[in-house]
Amino acid sequence: MQLLLAGELEPGELRRWQSALGAALASALPAARWCTREDVDRGRVDAAAVQAAIVANPPPGSLRGLPNLRLIQSLWAGVDRLLADPTLPAGVPVARMVDPAMSAAMAETALWAVLALHRGFFAYQRRQREGVWRQHRQRRADEVRVLVLGQGAMGAAAGARLAAQGYAVEGWRRDGSPLAPRLAAAEIVVNLLPLTPATRGLLDAAFFAALPAGASVVNLARGAHVVDADLLAALDRGHLRHAVLDVFHVEPLPAGHPYWAHPRVTVLPHAAALTDERSAAAVVAANLRALHEGAPLAHLVQRERQY
Ligand code: GLV
Repeated sequence: MQLLLAGELEPGELRRWQSALGAALASALPAARWCTREDVDRGRVDAAAVQAAIVANPPPGSLRGLPNLRLIQSLWAGVDRLLADPTLPAGVPVARMVDPAMSAAMAETALWAVLALHRGFFAYQRRQREGVWRQHRQRRADEVRVLVLGQGAMGAAAGARLAAQGYAVEGWRRDGSPLAPRLAAAEIVVNLLPLTPATRGLLDAAFFAALPAGASVVNLARGAHVVDADLLAALDRGHLRHAVLDVFHVEPLPAGHPYWAHPRVTVLPHAAALTDERSAAAVVAANLRALHEGAPLAHLVQRERQY
């Protein structure tokens, strides 16, 4: 089977993926062959031979003109940028990356952020910089109400991890119950929604106003879920206590952006859950083998829902 690997990968990253995928495919699909878009464009590989594409946030146009493409397998969990490419072949199934190792990493980050917010560790960090020695009241985990937005693989893993730690966890999905009453009862909101036209800008002034005073927000999904000006305004007027942000409208977060130096914002460099090449390669190999054998494909995106 001829495979195309496309994405914005640095040379070191590309080599790591090739070696992890090569190892995973050696037993699952020994006849697999690799190529890049450049191989196709220069005629070294016939475009009609390519049957599956493995993509990591590929530049728009990467998958055009491949008449026999039968699967687009993303190495990224979020496929918002992939689906926004107007040249993406219409009838070809798209699979998201659903990797238990990535979900576990995401659950760890959610747990760290919630623990740090619950116990006031970000506030202690600020006080250290100010040279202030002061304890604050300590509460039990079960007194802290956490709302996890998104109940996919990552939202479910984060919710389970937080519940196991004793937090009072609730989950919300977009097609479920109304959001406002859930927000009114939440002290910490963890966003793990997919980015779709229905969720873009969901975390806006009305959303923040629906949270009780002193609530905190943890965004581990996509920057475009948040209206930055509204979040900054809610933090600055003291309605929100803190925001932990892993994702941004523009990445890397531009120098001088107000988030960088804001005392009530913790910035992470889109590192809440990196794709682990070793485990992700096994997920890809299993799906390619299913394709080869005509078996059902896993983790398919519903294009009309956009995730
Ligand atoms: C990372 O943000 C991903 O979608 O995999």
